[in-house]
Amino acid sequence: ARALRVLGLESSCDDTAAAIVSSDGQIISETVRHQHQVHEAYGGIVPGLAADHHLRNMPLVVRETLEKAGMGMADVDAVAVTRGPGLPGSLAVGVAAGKTLAAVHLKPLVGVHHMEAHALMARMGAEDAVRFPYVCLLISGGHTLSLVVHGVNEHTLLGATRDDSVGEAFDKVARELAIPWIDAEDGGGAGPALEALARDGDPARFALPLPMEKSDSARSLDFSFSGLKTRIRRMREQGAFSAACRQDQADLAAAFQHAAAEHLQRKTRRALAHAAAEMGVAATCLVASGGVASNHAVRAALARLADRHGLPLVCPPPRLCTDNGVMVAWAGVERLRCGLLDPYTIDFIQRWPL
Ligand code: KG4
Ligand code: ZN
Repeated sequence: ARALRVLGLESSCDDTAAAIVSSDGQIISETVRHQHQVHEAYGGIVPGLAADHHLRNMPLVVRETLEKAGMGMADVDAVAVTRGPGLPGSLAVGVAAGKTLAAVHLKPLVGVHHMEAHALMARMGAEDAVRFPYVCLLISGGHTLSLVVHGVNEHTLLGATRDDSVGEAFDKVARELAIPWIDAEDGGGAGPALEALARDGDPARFALPLPMEKSDSARSLDFSFSGLKTRIRRMREQGAFSAACRQDQADLAAAFQHAAAEHLQRKTRRALAHAAAEMGVAATCLVASGGVASNHAVRAALARLADRHGLPLVCPPPRLCTDNGVMVAWAGVERLRCGLLDPYTIDFIQRWPL
């Protein structure tokens, strides 16, 4: 039988994205419209503005995706759309577009959980290598969590951040250190700039205490990053370093990056141990996804951990770690194979636990 072709739509936050993916793991076409410039001036995402821009961009993004593929809706076998979790106004645009396209063209509709899409992305075209069950770490500006992926539509959340996401922490620490942002198409934010500076730094000069190492919180599978940021702010206020001195900047960047990578590694080690001992999960690999998974120090720490457990570390390429349409289309493929279809009446789900 010919491979299935699924159109996937994503609009849960501030990126409008669409892609057509085939069930043999090929990306036929993909389009993303970011809204960074829209929200930058406000210092955060403005939900009403995000919805306006999705409303304007979604038809163009779908049109462009079909054109690049040289396809019409008749060539698409199903429509997948992110149902949640996310911003209600943003989700509503994607869900309305997806339902309408599917209903008008009489195509199967698949509502997708945004986190499941991130977690299944690593399997696209690699289902033999990334077999269920596996442990997945999602580390970006929007997410910091670990989960067991037992199968399609079957996951267990292990741990999540109690405060800031790890990407937010990188961004806020970069601000404390007055490190300018790098404007990169894939995986923007201040993280890459901080990483570059940390290369010239000595992580031992301003060694920072690791978060959550006291007895009760050390056992938790959750993460915490706001303490590191607050500590660096206090050090700056007390004059322990100068953000105008490049060596101070570099040494603190290295210290923060080391602490963040070590905290992620320790909590992931606990997550792997918990999955094995308490849940009887024999993980086939460790998957790390999200913008922060492209950080070399983080990746090296996770690779060492995976190695000690005899597991491969799998990281999707950066542009497929960020919010994108490919992951939604691929999750659609996986759900279709399991017969998980949805009626044309589905609504978005703002808060949707895994
Ligand atoms: O996955 P992502 O591109 O977007 C969402 O959060 O949705 O993640 C962006 C986050 C930003 O906070 C950025 O600073 C961080 O990931 N990031 C990095 C690196 N590249 C991106 N953090 C540390 N090191 C990096 N190389
Ligand atoms: Zn996401």
